[in-house]
Amino acid sequence: MRKDTPSKTARKVALNIVTLGAKPGMDKVLPAGIVESTAELLVASGAVGATAVRWSRSPRMVSLYKAFDWMMPGQFEAFAHRKAFCERQVRQGIAGGARQVLVLGAGYDTIGWRLSPEFADVNFFEIDHPATASLKAKGIDTMGPRDNLHLISEDLGKRKLVDVLKADDSWDSAKRTVIVAEGLLMYLTAEAVRDLFKQCAAIVGPGSRIAFTYIGTGADGRPDVGRWTGLVLWILKVTGEPWLWSIQPEKLGQFLKDSGWADAPELLGTSDKRGVEFLGVATR
Ligand SMILES: C[S@@+](CC[C@H](N)C(=O)[O-])C[C@H]1O[C@@H](n2cnc3c(N)ncnc32)[C@H](O)[C@@H]1O
Repeated sequence: MRKDTPSKTARKVALNIVTLGAKPGMDKVLPAGIVESTAELLVASGAVGATAVRWSRSPRMVSLYKAFDWMMPGQFEAFAHRKAFCERQVRQGIAGGARQVLVLGAGYDTIGWRLSPEFADVNFFEIDHPATASLKAKGIDTMGPRDNLHLISEDLGKRKLVDVLKADDSWDSAKRTVIVAEGLLMYLTAEAVRDLFKQCAAIVGPGSRIAFTYIGTGADGRPDVGRWTGLVLWILKVTGEPWLWSIQPEKLGQFLKDSGWADAPELLGTSDKRGVEFLGVATR
């Protein structure tokens, strides 16, 4: 992943959410307030201009996304299901006693900003690479900072998550926590993913959960997104954010066990695959 410029894929996910807001029927899937807050954040952060956001909300853009859905079948709508899944995990975790939420590689995600006023006794943390986190911080500043929303600007490839959080007075490693790793793991090496799960296990209290998305491995050993896998992987590579990690769903349980977590498919509350991505939940 290119480290000098703000993440293009984070911007793409956010614009996709804005466009999904213009697609009939998606209001039943998308979390409340996500479209408006994402549009506001994109402009306030300077990630995109107001005109681009206006365009993204147009029926024409919905048609354009639909026209390109052949490349990664179902992925356009999948972003809405992915956001809904993460929000359900966070809400259920909080209902079950979690008092910390940590969003890894948060990009322009607005869950922390939207839910922090509703759950004043929960501390929300977000971490992203400085190139993206600095824009996000600017946007959140304009939209209205929250006392219980902590934005952390850090390159997790350079500094370990455990060290980052141990140095943060607001973080409590004994607390029940919900961790979200949405659209992140595929950009890390296998070694980095295993290490990240282990570190996550070390910084949370009993009863915590981690919600994540991942790409399945195909018969040829590559991340599998269907018929156009070669083309998609090539585009991701040349745009500077290649996919490096995938796993066969049947091997996930053992992988999680080896990394200090227990696979908890019973907590999914939805199908385990949306578009080309699998959804996962593990507990500790
Ligand atoms: C595809 S985006 C997903 C954004 C968000 N989770 C979502 O789904 O809307 C991946 C995010 O991971 C962040 N990221 C990638 N490598 C990172 C690193 N080494 N340290 C911190 N953040 C990183 C990127 O900056 C980007 O915001």
